[in-house]
Amino acid sequence: MRILFVCLGNICRSPMAEAVMRDLIEKRGLSREIKVDSAGTSNWHVGELPHKGTQAKLGEYSISTAGMLCRQLKSSDFIEFDYIVGMDASNVDNIREMLNQPDDTKIFRFLDITPHQKDIPDPWYTGDFQETYDLCFEGCEALLEKVLADKK
Ligand code: 4NP
Repeated sequence: MRILFVCLGNICRSPMAEAVMRDLIEKRGLSREIKVDSAGTSNWHVGELPHKGTQAKLGEYSISTAGMLCRQLKSSDFIEFDYIVGMDASNVDNIREMLNQPDDTKIFRFLDITPHQKDIPDPWYTGDFQETYDLCFEGCEALLEKVLADKK
């Protein structure tokens, strides 16, 4: 099973979700079964490390960002991944347009699988990386349960 998290810049929210999910998967001994990656709809930060705020927040929870570099979403991602998870509604609109997939259900908004049913606020603008971490953590726990249930 392969999961792709997508945001606008691929430096704040989607790398946070990727690192949190990989950590959960490693702790559950599922690294061979479930692969995780992230991408941005824009090309503004391609090749850059995750944002300092994302790195620092993950560091507080001893979660590594080693080897993570920003990349842009590409057409082959639709074939490569089973779950394509946008951080907010505009990400989902942009993913659908870029991948030319108006209604495939493997593309969805992250927190729609949780009771929150809302966007992950963008810390690039809010500066609140704790809120992003907390929501990503909750979303990742829900997504892991969903992936495992879907696999049965
Ligand atoms: P992200 O946040 O989509 O969570 O990575 C942003 C990062 C960069 C910019 C906007 C949002 N930017 O305007 O460069």
